[in-house]
Amino acid sequence: METRIDPPGRAQEDLLATVVNAVHRETDPVRAMERTVELLKQHVADYTWVGIYLLEGTDLVLGPFRGKPSPHTRIPVGSGICGAAAAQQATIVVDDVNADSRYLACSMETRSEIVVPIMHAGAVVGEIDIDSDRPAAFGVPDRTLLEAVAAALAPILAGQMRTQ
Ligand code: SME
Repeated sequence: METRIDPPGRAQEDLLATVVNAVHRETDPVRAMERTVELLKQHVADYTWVGIYLLEGTDLVLGPFRGKPSPHTRIPVGSGICGAAAAQQATIVVDDVNADSRYLACSMETRSEIVVPIMHAGAVVGEIDIDSDRPAAFGVPDRTLLEAVAAALAPILAGQMRTQ
């Protein structure tokens, strides 16, 4: 039987198109976030926990997520991997969460994590946080995919932010 091998990045490109189409079909920001976390969790086996945090003042507040409930529903900017990514306004990939002193544990099974800020007009409005039970689960294709998803979500989320 012939095995078809997709060129690198093909799966991520298809998933990006699926998520962006879904996001653009939603008029409600909460629904757009719900669809995003649902599609990412559903399509990538390594994505064990997928959530979106929104910036409220100086805290990141957990919005829609898929996976086990997290004890970290409110994280101050600067705290944990999530808070570090918001403070640095940059994606953080952690290959081994147990070797990173910033890490706030959500599940004992989690081995690696990626946090991607959602930026609008030069400011953080939220972030996409994904945990995996597999060590070093997040590579360049994941980062590229998730930064593009964050860019698609940014204007939708920015539109619903309250002026601080
Ligand atoms: N691990 C995150 C906390 C959020 S849970 O993973 C859902 C952190 O260190 O900021």
